[in-house]
Amino acid sequence: MTPITDAAPLCLLTDIPDGGAVEVEALLRGEAESLLVYRHGDDARAYLNVCPHAGRRLDYAPGKFLVRGGTIICAAHGASFAADSGECTQGPCKGDSLRRIDVRVVDGAVRLA
Ligand code: FES
Repeated sequence: MTPITDAAPLCLLTDIPDGGAVEVEALLRGEAESLLVYRHGDDARAYLNVCPHAGRRLDYAPGKFLVRGGTIICAAHGASFAADSGECTQGPCKGDSLRRIDVRVVDGAVRLA
């Protein structure tokens, strides 16, 4: 994975399967951070790739996320998050939320807002 600059898009919407998620690296306040970018139709949501339960990454392998039926599942201990809001709906951190990063889709590209 190649770190990106502030000016570059995070990814193209078409890089993400509809209803799925990909990992991208973004510069946030000058620090490279791993993000999960979820696609829902023509829209995208981004979250820090950090679970609020124990601070582990959400992916089960680098860049591979468990996302089914609008739910993101943390690979570490199974917390389930609503993909559209980031809220934990089931599991050890129920009621907590993923940290959302504002993004927008412009001309098919997902960019930091
Ligand atoms: S670190 Fe995600 S459920 Fe425990």
